[in-house]
Amino acid sequence: MILRFALSGLIACCAVQAETGRSAWLRYAALDAAAARQFNNGLPPSITVLGTSAVELSGRDEVVLGVRGMLGRELRAGVVAPGNDTILLGTLAEIHAAVPGLALPEKLGADSFWLKSAAAGGTRYLLIAGGDERGVLYGSFALMRKIALGETLVNVDEKQAPYAPVRWVNEWDNLNGTIERGYGGASIFWENGHARADMGRVREYGRLLASIGINGCAISNVNADPKILSPESLLDIAKIADALRPWGVQVALAVSFDSPKKIGGLDTFDPLDPKVAAWWTMVANGIFGLIPDIGGFVLKADSEGRLGPSAYGRSHADAANVVARALKPHNALFFYRGFVYDNHMDWNNPKNDRARAAWDNFHELDGQFDDNVIIQIKNGPIDFQVREPASPLFGALEKTNQAIELQITQEYNGQARFMMYEVPMWKETLEFDMHAGPMPTPVKSLVAGKVFHSKTGGFVGVSNVGLDENWMGNHMSLANLYGYGRLAWNPDLTVKQITDEWTRQTFSANPKVVDTIGAMQMSSWRTYENYTGPLGLQTLTDIVGNHYGVSVEASENNGWGQWHRADAQGVGMDRTPAGTGYTMQYRPAVGKMFEQPETCPDDLLLFFHHVPYTYMLHSGKTVIQYIYDSHYLGADEVTRYVDDWKSLKGLVDDERYAAVLKMLEYQAGQAVLWRDAVSNWFLRASGIADTKGRVGNYPNRFEAEKMKLDGYTEVAVKPWEAASGDGKAVQCAVAQCAASMSFGGAAGRYALHVRYFDQNSSIPVPVGGRGGPPAPAGAAKFRVLVAGKVVDEWTAAHPAPSARLDGSTSTRHVVSGVALKPGDEIRIEGVPGVREVAGLDYLEIWPEGK
Ligand code: GCU
Repeated sequence: MILRFALSGLIACCAVQAETGRSAWLRYAALDAAAARQFNNGLPPSITVLGTSAVELSGRDEVVLGVRGMLGRELRAGVVAPGNDTILLGTLAEIHAAVPGLALPEKLGADSFWLKSAAAGGTRYLLIAGGDERGVLYGSFALMRKIALGETLVNVDEKQAPYAPVRWVNEWDNLNGTIERGYGGASIFWENGHARADMGRVREYGRLLASIGINGCAISNVNADPKILSPESLLDIAKIADALRPWGVQVALAVSFDSPKKIGGLDTFDPLDPKVAAWWTMVANGIFGLIPDIGGFVLKADSEGRLGPSAYGRSHADAANVVARALKPHNALFFYRGFVYDNHMDWNNPKNDRARAAWDNFHELDGQFDDNVIIQIKNGPIDFQVREPASPLFGALEKTNQAIELQITQEYNGQARFMMYEVPMWKETLEFDMHAGPMPTPVKSLVAGKVFHSKTGGFVGVSNVGLDENWMGNHMSLANLYGYGRLAWNPDLTVKQITDEWTRQTFSANPKVVDTIGAMQMSSWRTYENYTGPLGLQTLTDIVGNHYGVSVEASENNGWGQWHRADAQGVGMDRTPAGTGYTMQYRPAVGKMFEQPETCPDDLLLFFHHVPYTYMLHSGKTVIQYIYDSHYLGADEVTRYVDDWKSLKGLVDDERYAAVLKMLEYQAGQAVLWRDAVSNWFLRASGIADTKGRVGNYPNRFEAEKMKLDGYTEVAVKPWEAASGDGKAVQCAVAQCAASMSFGGAAGRYALHVRYFDQNSSIPVPVGGRGGPPAPAGAAKFRVLVAGKVVDEWTAAHPAPSARLDGSTSTRHVVSGVALKPGDEIRIEGVPGVREVAGLDYLEIWPEGK
């Protein structure tokens, strides 16, 4: 009895939370009676852990917690003794010593595990055997996953080994507590320059990471603050490392290359200067003296304003090796990011191409890096766009460790506002054959070091979780974190397997829930691509700003290199040998495939080729018609997601049902904006009409600027495509404004779609041409009246990442079931908030149900 209490006390830290999303896929919800029954006999009544390390104890606690939650059973603390059936946790060596009679495999590799039902001397064991302590922990989570998924444990005999040794996440957290490209709230690690007082969320995060096999976590932004290496940060780092250690997650630090000068008091950071080498060694020795199990450092150099070896005319290998050598005695890795490019390139030079940068910078250095250096390569050659080809650098490093960098946080992919499931996208890249050898050489095997037998390598995911209850600001986005971990553990898993696992553990095992959410998630990448940037155009978003709202030309006429070169004649980047020559960076079989328009996949056509709008795709459609059709299809699909989700009412908990519904309804409105903006932009550029007559024709739409205006004044929205009617909308600069019209249709019930602007008034940027000092935030208010009666009212309080009237703030509000008859006055009133002008774009009047 005493022992049982002891176990309960140990796991109090991780009690199942209410349905806020905080427990993510580790809810351990009770299985229904039928599903639970099969485990009643198979599972021994007690649990015994042989090791004493925190990692193994975490594994033991997890099994106790999971069995209690899912099966309603309390496992007793067990011992190894004849007749004592038990779940037995330990490393292979520990189990061998404790129960010599058991037939065990000779060896299990690092982080590997074996789940085995076994018997010796009349005693039944359910073994969770690890190749090491972490293997024990991973095996415990795997066992809980099996129970959650209803997989039988009868005669279980399952060995698993990770596909690659490196399975890390990077967090772009700043020491002041903000997160670069983080959409789930403030940092769980840092606050005001120091580790947070409360490490509770860090411990919970460590548990989530361990459950999917993640073994490293960089806790500071790649745009690094040199202070992370200063002696004052040491205790903070140690505190975070302490919180993650029981979960087998090693802490890593993103460092700044100019640190020897910035905080070291040297007059140089030249990597070939012996003083600099000595400084890195001294700093590493200091850090590892206190925290010996740090996993390594990460470096972004010579990129986006970060200083690097070019300051001294040195190579990336010189830079990497000087730090790597300081880390080597501590058995730590040095991740050198392949994301090196010039963001001041001349747009007018048709030979310039940012996509070339990674390969140009690194391929000639192959073989010059020390063996604890890993080149960390983004999945595509640009920057986490909605679709990119695999980076050619994966196929070019034969004597250098590499890792693929995937972005879990949805920076260019709708951020936390849209459902955009990235797993199918990653899977496509991981399976892509780079033709780097006589046998197939998919990206996954190259990064794992299996092709050229590298010493190490693997996966890095930019996760950027925050303090929000659901970690990422959107329940659906958690599938990306889960899927990343599962792919890093085993990239051979199918997308469907991963998605089903996530849905069953996160929401419910009800087949309708699993099928519906699975279908939504799995189609959401294509849907997002359809309504944003198809055919390899990349995400047509505000490239120089927030990377969220639509802005087709934002990528052009600047040095950032995310160009699509759309003009009156045609669209696309010519990356063939006649253009920038980028295709020649691939192995010939791959390069030729992309180089010929006939063999280049339609999905990437405009990434590789500049073609006229009338160019005929393999599908038999012209490029321009495809752009129109895909945008309509994408927007319709998001509308369908709303209905799909509504079909789950009562099958998922009310709290998350409501939150996801709200998010999907918002996304449906944004998809219409994207659809109209991109297709109108291309209609204007190409002068070619939509054969289906939709683009530029909106029969149910009434432009605000054409209504009877009371106080409202016309405003030109930038970019123009973000507002209907050639970029015109209205704004209110007085206490209250109204736009009204007389209804001319048939009597009936209608849905009113009000397109308004929901500025984020907490961002202190002057809006609507008005300057002035920042004032406290305040939200605009809207009301809709029909024949003098209020039918709806709302506050514009969505935190879109812009303070302007633009493609990020244009928002849709739907008023359903409104009875209208001919001659009714429809009046939309706006009351500005502080720095919010109650902007209005248009009203659409749709017969109910259309
Ligand atoms: C993107 C992102 C930056 C980030 C950079 C990187 O460009 O917008 O915020 O710093 O990637 O990966 O280093």
